[in-house]
Amino acid sequence: MSQKKLITIFGATGAQGGGLARAILSDKNSEFSVRAVTRDPSSDKAKALAAMGAEVVEADLAHPEKVKKAMEGAWGAFCVTFFWAHFSPEQEAAEAKCMADAAKAAGVRHVIWSTLEDTRLHVPLHDDRMPTLMEKYKVPHFDAKGESNRFFKEEGIPTTFLLTSFYWDNMIYFGLGPKRGADGVLAITFPMGDSPLSGIGSGDIGKCAYGIFKKGESLIGKTIGIAGEHITCAEMAKSMTKALGEEVRYNSISPETFRSFGFPGAEDLGNMFQYYQEFAKEFADARDIKMAKELNPELQDFDSWLADNAKKIPLS
Ligand SMILES: NC(=O)c1ccc[n+]([C@@H]2O[C@H](COP(=O)([O-])OP(=O)(O)OC[C@H]3O[C@@H](n4cnc5c(N)ncnc54)[C@H](OP(=O)(O)O)[C@@H]3O)[C@@H](O)[C@H]2O)c1
Repeated sequence: MSQKKLITIFGATGAQGGGLARAILSDKNSEFSVRAVTRDPSSDKAKALAAMGAEVVEADLAHPEKVKKAMEGAWGAFCVTFFWAHFSPEQEAAEAKCMADAAKAAGVRHVIWSTLEDTRLHVPLHDDRMPTLMEKYKVPHFDAKGESNRFFKEEGIPTTFLLTSFYWDNMIYFGLGPKRGADGVLAITFPMGDSPLSGIGSGDIGKCAYGIFKKGESLIGKTIGIAGEHITCAEMAKSMTKALGEEVRYNSISPETFRSFGFPGAEDLGNMFQYYQEFAKEFADARDIKMAKELNPELQDFDSWLADNAKKIPLS
């Protein structure tokens, strides 16, 4: 029987959990083993993790009994929720509570909860600089995560609160890459003014989480914020121009304009960028690149991320 400490990883076929699963599985001397949670063990991504040595188990966060079973016998757990699968902050909070309850029942020794700021602590609902969304939120997909910290705290679960950053991969998979304007020139469009955007290659999140599990008890109860670089959108455009070998401009727009784009989640993201912009210093101060690099010596800045990924960015 394996003497390794078992880590249950939610979202193991996704960006954050996948990065952690691969980091552990590709380290032959790791003190940890992986239980990868997925709704579909027959998917190619799940099979690839099994081939690397993961135990793959089926569970949906909507089914608490399955989530409890997925935690049984685990030493650690990586907990992440899936806002963009349903766009419901209440469901996201229920997912977080479901994992916290299961971690408590299983006596898990170290949980990493992938969270974000509750923006209402800086922008209360009565503050009309940005619209209140869904009656109770400013940035629903942030606020629900920040609010859910309490499930882990109140249940006394030994937790490290991991504050993540804007994935640069959003330019590949989330439609936020450069678009060609009427003049034929590529431009990235963000409501960020001249403020820096704290970003990270999504694969680095899991590698940092691995560093947190390795550091162990000293990080329990702490909030650890990570980023690969705090970089303005003008600087991002300059780096992309170099990496793509073609001019990329930065098209700076207002948060109001972004909110009016009309795609699902545009208002949430418009408020998010406004929050990033107006609280850029607080946001960056909460995300320590030096600490992230200590946890994950392979941490990439934007240029090194582009060197690996620029070709994957769809250009239209
Ligand atoms: N994009 C960004 O810039 C950014 C930045 C910070 C934080 N985030 C947050 O990151 C979270 C998403 O994490 P990610 O990017 O790692 O995910 P992802 O790459 O989109 O992958 C989604 C993962 O969720 C799993 N999943 C979805 N619904 C599930 C359910 N009901 N039960 C169990 N598993 C479920 C999927 O597993 P199966 O399909 O295999 O079941 C898959 O592993 C979101 O809440 C988002 O707000 C995003």
